[in-house]
Amino acid sequence: MIQSTIYNCCVIELGKIHNKAGNITVIEKNVQLPFDVRRVYYLYDVPGGGLRGGHSHKKLQQLIIAASGCFDVLLDDGINKKVVQLNRPYYGLLIVPGIWRELLNFSSGAICLVLASEKYEAGDYIRDYQIFKDSKIHCIPEYK
Ligand code: TYD
Repeated sequence: MIQSTIYNCCVIELGKIHNKAGNITVIEKNVQLPFDVRRVYYLYDVPGGGLRGGHSHKKLQQLIIAASGCFDVLLDDGINKKVVQLNRPYYGLLIVPGIWRELLNFSSGAICLVLASEKYEAGDYIRDYQIFKDSKIHCIPEYK
């Protein structure tokens, strides 16, 4: 049973070092990020109408960034849902364990950069929504 809610997830402003020759955004542990990064991956060439995600994690935390373009992230804790649009490379969405997420509405050329707290481990995923719901049952307050 994982007692997290969507309200434990948040958009972090990463900051921007502005320069007329282009901008830099920096991510450092304990400054912008509350975990050690053990893996980085990125999604790209997502076809129009494509849906990614569709799972939750038992242990892994991640920071999701629209490094280019934009997309929506649907967050769901089994009771409450919200959609976060990511459309700037200097914002990151922190997703804690125990949250079902779906990534959708990718713009053409969008790049979804993911910093993850764990290496890839198939056993850390819950990919069945009903099993996810059952894992959350009776532990989430409903917020109106
Ligand atoms: P999946 O987790 O289904 O992608 P998404 O949630 O973004 O839709 O991963 C797709 C495939 O890639 C699946 O076969 C697992 C594999 N994969 C790895 O081998 N290592 C990784 O770090 C990731 C993220 C996926």
